[in-house]
Amino acid sequence: QRLELALESIEKGGYEHFMLKEIFEQPRSILDCLRGRMIPEKGHLMMSGFFEYENKFAKANRILIVACGTSYHAGLVAEYLIEDLARVPVEVEYASEFRYRNPIINENDIVIAISQSGETADTLAAIELAKSKGATIFGICNVVGSSIARATDAGAYTHAGPEIGVASTKAFTAQVTVLTLIAMIMGRRRGTIETTKLNQLMVELESIPGKVEQALQLDEQIQKISAVFKDASSFLYLGRGYNFPVALEGALKLKEISYIHAEGYPAAEMKHGPIALIDEHMPVVVIATKDSSYEKIVSNVQEVRARKGKVIAVVTEGDNVIPSMADYVVEVPETNEHLMPLLSVIPLQLLSYHIAVMRGCNVDQPRNLAKSVTVE
Ligand code: G6P
Repeated sequence: QRLELALESIEKGGYEHFMLKEIFEQPRSILDCLRGRMIPEKGHLMMSGFFEYENKFAKANRILIVACGTSYHAGLVAEYLIEDLARVPVEVEYASEFRYRNPIINENDIVIAISQSGETADTLAAIELAKSKGATIFGICNVVGSSIARATDAGAYTHAGPEIGVASTKAFTAQVTVLTLIAMIMGRRRGTIETTKLNQLMVELESIPGKVEQALQLDEQIQKISAVFKDASSFLYLGRGYNFPVALEGALKLKEISYIHAEGYPAAEMKHGPIALIDEHMPVVVIATKDSSYEKIVSNVQEVRARKGKVIAVVTEGDNVIPSMADYVVEVPETNEHLMPLLSVIPLQLLSYHIAVMRGCNVDQPRNLAKSVTVE
């Protein structure tokens, strides 16, 4: 028993929980995920598992993405990325719905299955269904040799290293990194992304690990914000565009480990329901980084403020508009909007972590949840 405890503390590498260790590993895990796949100076952009299928992806009529939980949110980011950069229609679906609704799938479709563990029963069943209809299946898994990795025609590993905390963190950013590479490669192949833009994006992607490192320095500030809101009974998370899936992911993280009710919403949908919930007791996390929907989200912040909601805003460094409206502001480094989820999710991971710790929750093994769900 004592040996086990000693081993566990070594494995945690000085961190109090695996989740915190994994959050802080992200600069490294994203770098590992990019390693050998992209060298901007040489214009090198290649994933070995993807290479053989580049043509097939480029010619696909449509891409279906199936996943569960956090992996599903990575899939939603991919929908924005692939449609924007490669101009191929993408549909993202919960594996559990997909498998039971008699979906229309044919041989020209490509199904991307995303799974950290590679063992999720619903995702595996969705793959089997799509396979039986003749679709090509591409897997994005973290666990090498897992069932999903074996069941797919081809795939790319995320190389995030073992993830022990039940709430997924570094696997998410690694999945988004792989999906970004796929969208870029597809865009290049299909001629839907200009060379200069692609090169810029490569250079920017290379700088992401360093920028994640910078975002992690928000830790202390986020601890203070967490102390203010740890007793809230409900949270709203709002984002638009690339930050909408991040809002969903932020809300999921909070629910999973702190047991506080939280909902993620596209900011513009707020007026169709959630706005009714807003009063002075409601913390609203708004992901409002500088991107093409910035002006719109500024008005959403005003709407929340007008109803006395407490705004915690995630903004781009140097923003001087939102800080004058929000109650609390955390700044992430500037980046291209396509890559922003890799940075904007960091403060949300930290917020859920600190709130859960302050509430005395078992962060690494939250009640009722399992790391891999092998039953349907
Ligand atoms: C479980 C885990 C989540 C995870 C989901 C999908 O619910 O607790 O953290 O996102 O399964 O898992 P997968 O291994 O397929 O990504």
